[in-house]
Amino acid sequence: MTIRWYPGHMSKALEKMSEAIRKIDVVIEVLDARLPFSSSNHQLRDIRRNKPCIKLLNKHDLADPAVTKAWIRDFEKEEGVYALPISAKQHSETKQLIKLCQRLAPNRGRPGWPLRAMVFGIPNVGKSTLINTLAGRNMAKVGDKPAITTCNQQIDLRNGIILSDTPGVLWPDMADQDVAYRLATSGAIGASALDYTCVGLFAAEFMMRRYPQILGDRYKLDCMPETPTALLEAIGRRLGCLVSGGGIDVHRAAEAFLRELRAGKIGRVSLETPEDVVGITADEIKPDEEELPHTCDGE
Ligand code: G4P
Repeated sequence: MTIRWYPGHMSKALEKMSEAIRKIDVVIEVLDARLPFSSSNHQLRDIRRNKPCIKLLNKHDLADPAVTKAWIRDFEKEEGVYALPISAKQHSETKQLIKLCQRLAPNRGRPGWPLRAMVFGIPNVGKSTLINTLAGRNMAKVGDKPAITTCNQQIDLRNGIILSDTPGVLWPDMADQDVAYRLATSGAIGASALDYTCVGLFAAEFMMRRYPQILGDRYKLDCMPETPTALLEAIGRRLGCLVSGGGIDVHRAAEAFLRELRAGKIGRVSLETPEDVVGITADEIKPDEEELPHTCDGE
């Protein structure tokens, strides 16, 4: 199954963001630490006007720590880019972000001369959660439905920083199907745009290859099943996803497996390493608006 999920209004939105960035001192790109390449929209590089950019590897509490370290080293090879692992739900961790913003714009952050920052990212990476934690109150709705934030306001963090509360909602580049499947595995794609069994099989194959130990521990597998389908069946049996007559409901098993994987119940898992994406250039995965149908979850 080919996953396609792309809004038609992207070019206009990018133009507006590019314009808004003129007045911004620091660009904060929120990424999902489990898939920092796939959850990035590489067009941000074209519109960020050489402004300092913080790549925030959010949800690092769910990601494999060793792989997150490798990503930080990889990102910081680019000039003007700084990478920070974070859990946006943790107030104490967001303080590091404030310090980094202040370091990147040392002449700002004084009365009458505020430091202006804007949060960018694809849906579901945790932009609203971050804004709420930084503001210390609920400014933006948090939810599992992509692109739920619609309000337009500025938030004075009362520390010399003004945050634009219109997160730049970028859209994932999904011309590469591995990218699309990793995004689907992470939960970044609305449920109506995907087939749980296909995504579950992709995730099962990945976990068998990369994280067999924690997979075996979680589902008490005596030996690793030979195929992704057999693995989903074993998981379905373990979780009681049965149909009448005692067979396994593979669709329900896939859904339950993905739910556990996304919630970190199997363990801390990263869905890609810098080596996995070598050779996939931003240009290759930039979607062609002419070719892709303008289907979007719309939520
Ligand atoms: P968005 O604005 O970029 O679209 O993302 P949003 O903040 O709505 O967050 C999407 C989901 O990711 C939410 O889960 C949120 O709680 C979760 N999340 C955000 N930051 C972190 C983090 O650092 N660690 C973990 N583990 N999860 C994070 P949800 O299930 O949709 O909502 P809720 O039930 O948590 O309220």
